[in-house]
Amino acid sequence: MSSIHGGNIYEGFSYANYPCDIAGWGGDSAAFGELIAGVRPGLIIEVGSWKGASAITMADALKAGGLDGKILCIDTWLGALEFRLDQSDPERFKALDCRHGYPQVYFQFLANVCHSGHQDRIVPFPIDSAAAALWLLSHGVSADLIYIDGSHEEEAVYQDLLDYSAVLRPGGILFGDDWEWSGVRAAVERFAREERLPITRCHDKWVLSN
Ligand SMILES: C[S@@+](CC[C@H](N)C(=O)[O-])C[C@H]1O[C@@H](n2cnc3c(N)ncnc32)[C@H](O)[C@@H]1O
Repeated sequence: MSSIHGGNIYEGFSYANYPCDIAGWGGDSAAFGELIAGVRPGLIIEVGSWKGASAITMADALKAGGLDGKILCIDTWLGALEFRLDQSDPERFKALDCRHGYPQVYFQFLANVCHSGHQDRIVPFPIDSAAAALWLLSHGVSADLIYIDGSHEEEAVYQDLLDYSAVLRPGGILFGDDWEWSGVRAAVERFAREERLPITRCHDKWVLSN
């Protein structure tokens, strides 16, 4: 927390102003608990956190397993292409909660973490995934488990896979959401083929182990 933010970002945040709203996609999957029980991670990195559903599920699993692991949540909290395609979409464009044209959904994420009591486990890093990967590499950070759920566009997902496989510790697990999105599937299949890695499934998630 302090190496990214220089202090405790939860301090003084009035989360009562934001009622708990953990709407998201694929955040309650049984895969999180199973993978966490198997890997027993010290550090989990999540690329794409939105309102925190998956991060909170993972924090619950760490706590339930008596593990002291932390979760670094990387997101711009600006949405992605699909959040900008339909201004009437209550789950995406409207949920960005734009004020004067700029999304405020980060504060809902922060409040959800506080409502769930996981301020000691979850650290947000509001930056794009490529820059975050460079920051992590330059600071010698490696993670045991990395969840990819940011962009759904093929080239961007492929770049996330390249960037975050470099951040994964040897023997760690890279997994992700949205196999049914053609861009995600094409990127995962391309990366797996090039790296000669098997693609397996854990419930609704795709999994790559190195
Ligand atoms: C599908 S949502 C994540 C859902 C979340 N895991 C959940 O449990 O509900 C995708 C998120 O990725 C973020 N995102 C998309 N592209 C990104 C990028 N290049 N860098 C950082 N965040 C990105 C968006 O802001 C959005 O919050």
